[in-house]
Amino acid sequence: MAILELVPDIYSIGSKDWGRTLFDAFVSLPKGTSYNSYFIHGSEKTALIDAVDPEKEEELITHLIKLKVSHINYIIALHTEQDHAGSIPMLLELFPAATIICTQSGKELLFHHLGVDPERCKVIADGEELSLGNKTLQFMVTPWVHWPDTMLAYCIEDKTLFSCDFFGTHYATSDLFMTDLAEGEVLSKRYFAELMMPFRTSILEYLDKLASKEIEIIAPSHGPCIKPASRILSLYQTWASDKTENLVVIPYVSMHGSVKRMVHYLSDVLIEHDIRVQMYDLTTANTGDIAASLVDARTLILGAPTMLFGPHPLVASLAFVTNMLRPKTKYLGIIGSYGWGGRTVEVLGELTATMKVERFDPVLIQGAPDEKAYDALDALAHVIIEKHREN
Ligand code: FEO
Repeated sequence: MAILELVPDIYSIGSKDWGRTLFDAFVSLPKGTSYNSYFIHGSEKTALIDAVDPEKEEELITHLIKLKVSHINYIIALHTEQDHAGSIPMLLELFPAATIICTQSGKELLFHHLGVDPERCKVIADGEELSLGNKTLQFMVTPWVHWPDTMLAYCIEDKTLFSCDFFGTHYATSDLFMTDLAEGEVLSKRYFAELMMPFRTSILEYLDKLASKEIEIIAPSHGPCIKPASRILSLYQTWASDKTENLVVIPYVSMHGSVKRMVHYLSDVLIEHDIRVQMYDLTTANTGDIAASLVDARTLILGAPTMLFGPHPLVASLAFVTNMLRPKTKYLGIIGSYGWGGRTVEVLGELTATMKVERFDPVLIQGAPDEKAYDALDALAHVIIEKHREN
Protein backbone atom coordinates (compact mmCIF):
# COMPACT_ATOMS: atom_id res chain seq x y z
CA MET A 1 0.00 0.00 0.00
CA ALA A 2 1.24 3.45 -0.79
CA ILE A 3 1.85 6.06 1.88
CA LEU A 4 -0.87 8.67 1.57
CA GLU A 5 -1.14 11.98 3.40
CA LEU A 6 -4.52 12.24 5.08
CA VAL A 7 -4.01 15.79 6.32
CA PRO A 8 -0.74 17.66 6.84
CA ASP A 9 1.57 15.56 9.07
CA ILE A 10 -0.83 12.64 9.31
CA TYR A 11 -0.14 9.71 7.00
CA SER A 12 -2.09 6.58 6.17
CA ILE A 13 0.57 3.84 6.26
CA GLY A 14 -1.36 0.60 6.70
CA SER A 15 -1.88 -2.31 4.37
CA LYS A 16 -4.44 -3.52 1.84
CA ASP A 17 -5.44 -7.17 1.86
CA TRP A 18 -6.88 -7.37 -1.63
CA GLY A 19 -7.18 -11.14 -1.71
CA ARG A 20 -8.59 -11.90 1.74
CA THR A 21 -11.92 -13.66 1.38
CA LEU A 22 -12.86 -14.49 4.97
CA PHE A 23 -12.74 -12.63 8.26
CA ASP A 24 -13.05 -14.36 11.62
CA ALA A 25 -13.15 -17.55 9.55
CA PHE A 26 -16.78 -16.73 8.80
CA VAL A 27 -17.51 -13.26 7.39
CA SER A 28 -17.02 -13.27 3.63
CA LEU A 29 -15.14 -10.35 2.09
CA PRO A 30 -16.24 -9.74 -1.51
CA LYS A 31 -13.81 -6.82 -1.85
CA GLY A 32 -10.99 -7.83 0.49
CA THR A 33 -10.15 -5.50 3.35
CA SER A 34 -7.50 -3.15 4.64
CA TYR A 35 -5.75 -2.66 7.97
CA ASN A 36 -5.31 1.07 8.28
CA SER A 37 -2.60 2.56 10.42
CA TYR A 38 -2.01 6.29 10.81
CA PHE A 39 1.28 7.96 11.66
CA ILE A 40 1.10 11.42 13.20
CA HIS A 41 4.21 13.57 13.05
CA GLY A 42 3.40 16.13 15.71
CA SER A 43 5.65 19.11 16.29
CA GLU A 44 6.79 17.62 19.63
CA LYS A 45 5.78 13.96 19.69
CA THR A 46 4.95 11.20 17.26
CA ALA A 47 2.14 8.67 17.43
CA LEU A 48 1.00 5.63 15.52
CA ILE A 49 -2.75 4.97 15.59
CA ASP A 50 -3.38 1.24 15.31
CA ALA A 51 -1.07 -1.26 13.66
CA VAL A 52 -1.84 -3.96 11.11
CA ASP A 53 -2.55 -7.66 10.94
CA PRO A 54 0.67 -9.58 11.74
CA GLU A 55 0.69 -11.04 8.22
CA LYS A 56 1.23 -7.50 6.92
CA GLU A 57 3.72 -6.22 9.46
CA GLU A 58 6.60 -6.09 6.98
CA GLU A 59 4.61 -3.62 4.93
CA LEU A 60 4.06 -1.43 7.97
CA ILE A 61 7.77 -1.46 8.80
CA THR A 62 8.61 -0.60 5.19
CA HIS A 63 6.30 2.40 5.36
CA LEU A 64 7.85 3.59 8.63
CA ILE A 65 11.30 3.32 7.06
CA LYS A 66 10.18 5.19 3.93
CA LEU A 67 8.80 7.94 6.15
CA LYS A 68 12.15 8.00 8.00
CA VAL A 69 10.45 7.41 11.34
CA SER A 70 13.23 7.01 13.89
CA HIS A 71 11.13 7.10 17.02
CA ILE A 72 7.54 6.67 18.06
CA ASN A 73 6.43 8.18 21.35
CA TYR A 74 2.97 6.66 21.46
CA ILE A 75 1.37 3.58 19.95
CA ILE A 76 -2.33 4.17 20.24
CA ALA A 77 -4.24 0.90 20.43
CA LEU A 78 -7.85 1.84 19.79
CA HIS A 79 -8.80 -1.85 19.91
CA THR A 80 -6.86 -5.02 20.62
CA GLU A 81 -8.21 -7.50 18.10
CA GLN A 82 -5.26 -8.94 16.24
CA ASP A 83 -6.04 -7.44 12.83
CA HIS A 84 -5.06 -4.08 14.36
CA ALA A 85 -2.95 -4.91 17.39
CA GLY A 86 -1.30 -8.14 16.26
CA SER A 87 1.89 -6.38 15.16
CA ILE A 88 2.20 -4.25 18.32
CA PRO A 89 4.65 -6.70 19.98
CA MET A 90 6.97 -6.26 16.98
CA LEU A 91 6.61 -2.46 17.19
CA LEU A 92 7.42 -2.51 20.89
CA GLU A 93 10.70 -4.28 20.10
CA LEU A 94 11.56 -1.84 17.32
CA PHE A 95 10.62 1.21 19.38
CA PRO A 96 11.58 0.36 22.97
CA ALA A 97 10.75 3.85 24.26
CA ALA A 98 7.20 3.82 22.88
CA THR A 99 4.27 3.88 25.27
CA ILE A 100 1.00 2.20 24.40
CA ILE A 101 -2.09 4.34 24.93
CA CYS A 102 -5.21 2.24 25.54
CA THR A 103 -8.22 1.70 27.76
CA GLN A 104 -8.08 -0.37 30.95
CA SER A 105 -9.79 -3.24 29.14
CA GLY A 106 -7.36 -2.79 26.26
CA LYS A 107 -4.41 -3.14 28.63
CA GLU A 108 -5.77 -6.44 29.96
CA LEU A 109 -6.60 -7.81 26.51
CA LEU A 110 -3.21 -6.82 25.08
CA PHE A 111 -1.62 -8.92 27.80
CA HIS A 112 -3.92 -11.91 27.36
CA HIS A 113 -3.95 -11.98 23.56
CA LEU A 114 -0.48 -10.74 22.71
CA GLY A 115 1.61 -10.98 25.86
CA VAL A 116 2.17 -7.22 25.95
CA ASP A 117 3.84 -6.09 29.17
CA PRO A 118 1.24 -4.01 31.09
CA GLU A 119 4.10 -1.73 32.17
CA ARG A 120 4.32 -0.49 28.59
CA CYS A 121 0.68 0.70 28.68
CA LYS A 122 -0.74 4.03 29.77
CA VAL A 123 -4.47 3.79 30.42
CA ILE A 124 -6.50 6.80 29.38
CA ALA A 125 -9.87 7.99 30.63
CA ASP A 126 -12.87 9.07 28.61
CA GLY A 127 -12.34 12.64 27.41
CA GLU A 128 -8.62 12.68 28.22
CA GLU A 129 -6.35 14.56 25.81
CA LEU A 130 -2.86 13.80 24.57
CA SER A 131 -0.77 16.61 23.10
CA LEU A 132 1.69 15.90 20.31
CA GLY A 133 2.54 19.61 20.01
CA ASN A 134 0.59 20.96 17.09
CA LYS A 135 -1.84 18.01 17.17
CA THR A 136 -4.08 17.10 20.10
CA LEU A 137 -5.83 13.77 20.39
CA GLN A 138 -8.94 13.59 22.51
CA PHE A 139 -10.04 10.07 23.48
CA MET A 140 -13.55 8.74 23.75
CA VAL A 141 -13.98 5.42 25.55
CA THR A 142 -16.58 3.46 23.54
CA PRO A 143 -16.97 -0.11 24.74
CA TRP A 144 -18.88 -2.51 22.48
CA VAL A 145 -18.21 -1.13 19.05
CA HIS A 146 -17.41 -3.92 18.94
CA TRP A 147 -15.19 -5.13 21.82
CA PRO A 148 -15.14 -3.99 25.46
CA ASP A 149 -11.76 -2.32 24.95
CA THR A 150 -12.66 0.03 22.11
CA MET A 151 -11.91 3.73 22.12
CA LEU A 152 -11.92 6.48 19.49
CA ALA A 153 -9.38 9.27 19.02
CA TYR A 154 -10.40 12.71 17.77
CA CYS A 155 -7.75 15.05 16.43
CA ILE A 156 -9.01 18.44 17.48
CA GLU A 157 -6.97 20.57 15.06
CA ASP A 158 -7.81 18.46 11.99
CA LYS A 159 -11.42 17.65 12.97
CA THR A 160 -10.60 14.04 12.21
CA LEU A 161 -12.04 11.05 14.04
CA PHE A 162 -9.94 7.89 14.18
CA SER A 163 -12.62 5.27 14.73
CA CYS A 164 -10.95 1.86 14.32
CA ASP A 165 -13.69 -0.70 13.51
CA PHE A 166 -16.50 1.82 14.07
CA PHE A 167 -17.61 3.22 10.66
CA GLY A 168 -15.22 0.82 8.93
CA THR A 169 -15.71 -1.12 5.71
CA HIS A 170 -14.13 -4.33 4.53
CA TYR A 171 -13.11 -2.74 1.27
CA ALA A 172 -9.72 -2.81 -0.39
CA THR A 173 -9.49 0.18 -2.71
CA SER A 174 -6.67 2.40 -3.89
CA ASP A 175 -8.73 5.45 -2.94
CA LEU A 176 -7.78 7.13 0.32
CA PHE A 177 -11.34 8.42 0.61
CA MET A 178 -14.55 6.60 -0.27
CA THR A 179 -15.32 7.93 -3.73
CA ASP A 180 -17.51 5.19 -5.18
CA LEU A 181 -20.43 5.68 -2.82
CA ALA A 182 -22.67 3.15 -4.60
CA GLU A 183 -20.22 0.36 -3.89
CA GLY A 184 -18.83 1.74 -0.65
CA GLU A 185 -22.14 2.21 1.11
CA VAL A 186 -23.33 -1.29 0.22
CA LEU A 187 -20.13 -2.65 1.78
CA SER A 188 -20.50 -0.30 4.78
CA LYS A 189 -24.00 -1.58 5.43
CA ARG A 190 -22.89 -5.17 5.18
CA TYR A 191 -20.04 -4.44 7.61
CA PHE A 192 -22.48 -2.74 10.00
CA ALA A 193 -24.78 -5.78 9.81
CA GLU A 194 -22.09 -8.33 10.55
CA LEU A 195 -20.06 -6.47 13.17
CA MET A 196 -22.00 -3.59 14.63
CA MET A 197 -25.68 -4.53 14.51
CA PRO A 198 -25.64 -6.45 17.82
CA PHE A 199 -24.55 -3.22 19.52
CA ARG A 200 -27.20 -0.79 18.23
CA THR A 201 -27.95 0.62 21.66
CA SER A 202 -24.30 1.55 22.30
CA ILE A 203 -24.00 2.94 18.78
CA LEU A 204 -26.93 5.31 19.25
CA GLU A 205 -25.41 6.53 22.51
CA TYR A 206 -22.05 7.20 20.84
CA LEU A 207 -23.66 8.91 17.85
CA ASP A 208 -25.29 11.31 20.31
CA LYS A 209 -21.92 12.03 21.91
CA LEU A 210 -20.24 12.50 18.53
CA ALA A 211 -22.91 15.02 17.51
CA SER A 212 -21.25 17.53 19.82
CA LYS A 213 -17.99 17.33 17.86
CA GLU A 214 -17.17 18.95 14.57
CA ILE A 215 -16.08 15.98 12.46
CA GLU A 216 -14.89 16.55 8.91
CA ILE A 217 -13.08 13.27 8.29
CA ILE A 218 -13.63 9.77 9.65
CA ALA A 219 -10.49 7.67 9.42
CA PRO A 220 -11.43 4.07 10.27
CA SER A 221 -9.06 1.14 10.52
CA HIS A 222 -10.77 -0.82 7.73
CA GLY A 223 -11.58 0.57 4.31
CA PRO A 224 -11.41 4.07 2.90
CA CYS A 225 -11.63 7.26 4.93
CA ILE A 226 -14.87 9.19 4.73
CA LYS A 227 -15.25 12.87 3.94
CA PRO A 228 -17.60 14.53 4.56
CA ALA A 229 -18.39 12.50 7.65
CA SER A 230 -22.03 13.55 7.81
CA ARG A 231 -23.22 10.94 5.30
CA ILE A 232 -21.99 7.87 7.21
CA LEU A 233 -23.07 9.37 10.55
CA SER A 234 -26.55 9.76 9.14
CA LEU A 235 -26.58 6.23 7.72
CA TYR A 236 -25.49 4.79 11.07
CA GLN A 237 -28.26 6.74 12.77
CA THR A 238 -30.79 5.09 10.44
CA TRP A 239 -29.29 1.61 10.59
CA ALA A 240 -29.00 1.64 14.38
CA SER A 241 -32.48 3.08 14.96
CA ASP A 242 -35.59 0.97 15.65
CA LYS A 243 -37.13 2.06 12.36
CA THR A 244 -37.82 -0.83 9.97
CA GLU A 245 -38.87 -0.87 6.34
CA ASN A 246 -41.81 -2.49 4.60
CA LEU A 247 -39.62 -5.49 3.78
CA VAL A 248 -39.97 -9.23 4.35
CA VAL A 249 -36.79 -11.31 4.14
CA ILE A 250 -37.30 -14.98 3.28
CA PRO A 251 -34.26 -17.26 3.50
CA TYR A 252 -35.16 -20.84 2.67
CA VAL A 253 -33.98 -24.26 1.64
CA SER A 254 -36.00 -26.67 -0.45
CA MET A 255 -34.91 -30.29 -0.83
CA HIS A 256 -37.70 -31.60 -3.06
CA GLY A 257 -39.55 -28.44 -4.10
CA SER A 258 -42.33 -28.21 -1.49
CA VAL A 259 -40.77 -25.39 0.55
CA LYS A 260 -39.82 -23.55 -2.62
CA ARG A 261 -43.46 -23.60 -3.75
CA MET A 262 -44.55 -22.37 -0.33
CA VAL A 263 -42.11 -19.45 -0.16
CA HIS A 264 -42.89 -18.37 -3.71
CA TYR A 265 -46.62 -18.50 -3.05
CA LEU A 266 -46.27 -16.43 0.13
CA SER A 267 -43.91 -14.02 -1.58
CA ASP A 268 -46.32 -13.45 -4.49
CA VAL A 269 -49.19 -12.59 -2.17
CA LEU A 270 -47.02 -10.15 -0.23
CA ILE A 271 -45.67 -8.47 -3.36
CA GLU A 272 -49.21 -8.11 -4.71
CA HIS A 273 -50.00 -6.19 -1.53
CA ASP A 274 -47.11 -3.74 -1.96
CA ILE A 275 -44.73 -5.42 0.44
CA ARG A 276 -41.11 -5.67 -0.65
CA VAL A 277 -39.68 -9.18 -0.47
CA GLN A 278 -36.08 -10.34 -0.50
CA MET A 279 -35.80 -14.10 -0.96
CA TYR A 280 -32.61 -16.11 -0.48
CA ASP A 281 -31.98 -19.72 -1.45
CA LEU A 282 -29.59 -20.71 1.31
CA THR A 283 -27.79 -23.25 -0.86
CA THR A 284 -26.28 -20.36 -2.82
CA ALA A 285 -26.94 -17.15 -0.85
CA ASN A 286 -24.26 -15.25 0.99
CA THR A 287 -24.82 -14.71 4.70
CA GLY A 288 -23.42 -11.15 4.46
CA ASP A 289 -26.11 -10.21 1.93
CA ILE A 290 -28.82 -11.64 4.17
CA ALA A 291 -27.39 -9.83 7.21
CA ALA A 292 -27.44 -6.54 5.26
CA SER A 293 -31.12 -7.09 4.37
CA LEU A 294 -31.92 -7.69 8.02
CA VAL A 295 -30.66 -4.19 8.89
CA ASP A 296 -33.99 -2.87 7.53
CA ALA A 297 -36.38 -5.85 7.44
CA ARG A 298 -39.59 -5.66 9.42
CA THR A 299 -40.32 -9.38 9.05
CA LEU A 300 -38.23 -12.52 8.71
CA ILE A 301 -39.79 -15.73 7.39
CA LEU A 302 -37.66 -18.86 7.60
CA GLY A 303 -38.48 -21.47 4.98
CA ALA A 304 -37.36 -24.83 6.33
CA PRO A 305 -37.67 -28.41 5.23
CA THR A 306 -37.27 -30.99 7.96
CA MET A 307 -34.15 -33.12 7.66
CA LEU A 308 -34.00 -36.13 9.93
CA PHE A 309 -35.37 -34.76 13.22
CA GLY A 310 -35.20 -30.98 12.80
CA PRO A 311 -34.67 -28.04 10.46
CA HIS A 312 -32.34 -28.34 7.51
CA PRO A 313 -28.82 -27.44 8.79
CA LEU A 314 -28.53 -24.41 6.48
CA VAL A 315 -31.71 -22.91 7.94
CA ALA A 316 -30.60 -23.81 11.47
CA SER A 317 -27.28 -22.07 10.87
CA LEU A 318 -28.97 -18.94 9.50
CA ALA A 319 -31.34 -18.88 12.48
CA PHE A 320 -28.39 -19.09 14.87
CA VAL A 321 -26.52 -16.30 13.06
CA THR A 322 -29.60 -14.08 12.96
CA ASN A 323 -30.12 -14.56 16.68
CA MET A 324 -26.47 -13.59 17.24
CA LEU A 325 -26.68 -10.45 15.06
CA ARG A 326 -29.79 -9.15 16.86
CA PRO A 327 -31.49 -7.31 13.99
CA LYS A 328 -34.33 -4.94 14.78
CA THR A 329 -36.76 -7.19 12.88
CA LYS A 330 -40.16 -7.07 14.57
CA TYR A 331 -41.86 -10.24 13.32
CA LEU A 332 -40.72 -13.80 12.76
CA GLY A 333 -42.45 -16.65 10.99
CA ILE A 334 -41.59 -20.24 10.06
CA ILE A 335 -42.98 -22.11 7.09
CA GLY A 336 -41.92 -25.54 5.93
CA SER A 337 -42.57 -29.10 5.03
CA TYR A 338 -41.70 -32.43 6.68
CA GLY A 339 -41.66 -36.03 5.61
CA TRP A 340 -42.89 -37.84 8.67
CA GLY A 341 -42.29 -35.63 11.73
CA GLY A 342 -39.50 -33.83 13.55
CA ARG A 343 -38.97 -30.80 15.78
CA THR A 344 -38.31 -28.13 13.14
CA VAL A 345 -40.43 -25.40 14.71
CA GLU A 346 -39.20 -26.09 18.24
CA VAL A 347 -35.53 -26.13 17.23
CA LEU A 348 -35.80 -22.92 15.20
CA GLY A 349 -37.59 -21.35 18.16
CA GLU A 350 -34.72 -22.32 20.44
CA LEU A 351 -32.13 -21.01 17.97
CA THR A 352 -33.86 -17.63 17.79
CA ALA A 353 -34.81 -17.50 21.45
CA THR A 354 -33.21 -14.14 22.26
CA MET A 355 -34.77 -12.29 19.33
CA LYS A 356 -37.29 -9.76 20.61
CA VAL A 357 -39.92 -10.45 17.97
CA GLU A 358 -43.58 -11.19 17.70
CA ARG A 359 -43.83 -14.74 16.39
CA PHE A 360 -46.45 -15.74 13.84
CA ASP A 361 -48.13 -19.13 13.98
CA PRO A 362 -45.97 -21.48 11.89
CA VAL A 363 -47.22 -23.06 8.70
CA LEU A 364 -45.74 -26.52 8.69
CA ILE A 365 -47.16 -29.13 6.37
CA GLN A 366 -46.54 -32.78 5.58
CA GLY A 367 -45.25 -33.36 2.07
CA ALA A 368 -46.33 -31.18 -0.84
CA PRO A 369 -48.52 -28.10 -0.37
CA ASP A 370 -52.23 -28.61 -1.05
CA GLU A 371 -55.22 -26.23 -0.98
CA LYS A 372 -55.26 -26.28 2.81
CA ALA A 373 -51.56 -25.32 2.89
CA TYR A 374 -52.12 -22.45 0.47
CA ASP A 375 -55.05 -21.25 2.60
CA ALA A 376 -52.75 -21.25 5.64
CA LEU A 377 -50.14 -19.26 3.68
CA ASP A 378 -52.83 -16.80 2.60
CA ALA A 379 -53.78 -16.35 6.23
CA LEU A 380 -50.14 -15.80 7.21
CA ALA A 381 -49.67 -13.31 4.38
CA HIS A 382 -52.66 -11.31 5.55
CA VAL A 383 -51.38 -11.20 9.11
CA ILE A 384 -48.08 -9.87 7.77
CA ILE A 385 -49.87 -7.33 5.58
CA GLU A 386 -51.86 -6.08 8.58
CA LYS A 387 -48.78 -5.85 10.76
CA HIS A 388 -46.90 -3.92 8.10
CA ARG A 389 -49.81 -1.51 7.76
CA GLU A 390 -49.72 -0.83 11.50
CA ASN A 391 -46.01 0.07 11.48
FE1 FEO B 1 -11.01 -4.96 12.86
FE2 FEO B 1 -12.41 -5.86 15.74
O1 FEO B 1 -11.05 -5.79 14.51
